[in-house]
Order: sequence, then C-alpha cells, then structure tokens
Amino acid sequence: MVHDTTGALVAVAVDGPSGSGKSSTARGVAAHLGWNYVDTGAMYRALTWWMINEGVDVTDPEAVTARVGEPTLDISVDPLALGVYVNGREVSTEIRDPHVTESVSAVSAVPAVRERLVAIQREIMERSAVVVEGRDIGTVVAPDAAVKIFLVAATEARAVRRAAEWAHDHGISVASTAAMLDQRDHLDSTRELSPLTQADDAVMIDSTALTLDEVIDQVVAMVRDRIPSFATS
Ligand code: DC
Repeated sequence: MVHDTTGALVAVAVDGPSGSGKSSTARGVAAHLGWNYVDTGAMYRALTWWMINEGVDVTDPEAVTARVGEPTLDISVDPLALGVYVNGREVSTEIRDPHVTESVSAVSAVPAVRERLVAIQREIMERSAVVVEGRDIGTVVAPDAAVKIFLVAATEARAVRRAAEWAHDHGISVASTAAMLDQRDHLDSTRELSPLTQADDAVMIDSTALTLDEVIDQVVAMVRDRIPSFATS
C-alpha cells in the first residue's frame, strides 16, 4: 500500500448503496487527482457474468465456490478508460445486464468470491494512490484509507438516476428500478460477510440535493486536508 510521510494510507474509500453516485464520484475524484480508480462492483459483476455464462447455479454457494478460481479477471484502473476483462474478453457492457444485476448479490455473498476479489483489490492498492468504490472498502478492504466516504441519496433520486441509465437500454421504469435497488441494498446490507455498512470513521455525504461536481469538490477537499502531499493536481 502507498503511504505518505505521516504513515497515512494514500487511498480514498467510497462506499454506499446502489445508485448513490459512487462511480461518478470516485471516477471524478481519481481523474481530478491523477490517481487510479477501482470499481470493485464491476469485479463482482464480471465474476457473476462468467458464472451465469458457464451455467453455474449462482444460488448455490458450493457450486460458485468450486469455480471461483477459474477465470482470469482484469480491470483497467484508468478513470478515463474503463474496462473489465474476463479471460481476456471485454465485458464492460454485459456486466450491466439486468440478469447479472439480479444475481450479483448472491455471488458476492460467497466467502470464496470475496476472498479472491479482495486479494486482487489490495494488490492494486499496493501499486499506487487509488480511489476505490464498493460496499466494504472502508470497513474491510482498506480500513486505514486516509479518506473514507459513505455516499447516500434518497431512494427516489437513486432510482431516477439509474432509470435514466437503464431506460434507454432496457426500458425499465423508475418505480421498478427503485424496487430493484432497495432489494439489492437489503441483500447487500444483511449478508453475513462484509455487509454494506458505514465505517465508524467514514464521513457520510448525502448527494440527493448536490451536483456531481459539488460532491467531487467535497471529497477532493478532504484529500487536500488529510494527505496534502498527494493532492497536488
Ligand atoms: O456497485 P455495483 O452496483 O456495480 O455492485 C454490484 C454488486 O456487487 C453489489 O450489489 C454488491 C456487490 N459488491 C460487494 O459485495 N462489495 C463491493 N465492494 C462492491 C460490490
């Protein structure tokens, strides 16, 4: 892991429920600072996509565990050039399909899945200053991150944002988007291992009434405050 002269871990952890603006915020902060960016949700989605494609019963933790080490997984850490690869195939679009979204909570609750992906996430963090977004970054993956954000937004606002992204491709209404988000958050928050929860020392930001730039500015200001030597851009 990269540390500054005071020993602080040079990382921003962005956790929160689905659709709270984590990806746009984390990417924006990373681009602003010239840091790397890791979308850990994309990694859980990529593994889920592969399992479904292979015909693995994703509701059976033993079946998932038996296959978890098989595919190679690669993820771009450039906030301006995203890409997720499974066995060398780019799957950035496929991992956003509704059938992947419906199954990803079950797959990500399997301990062997978290073990494999958290190891990859920590390996990436060894290499450079990084903004990492997910559900368990501030609590489990990088509890020592210098800046820890818990990003939330009202369900209605989250659903409107997600429906705007999805309606074009899948024709899903705001109401059913809201129901799907709530159901996934419930599964992610109540699972036994590394549930979605705010770390004691994370700062909560409610993005409901804020623009994306306002949220990014708040996070960048915290980085400048806590690890000034790494916030030079
Ligand atoms: O951020 P996202 O919606 O792409 O994440 C997809 C799923 O992956 C989410 O419903 C739960 C899981 N996830 C997780 O368990 N831990 C993370 N650090 C990130 C995502």
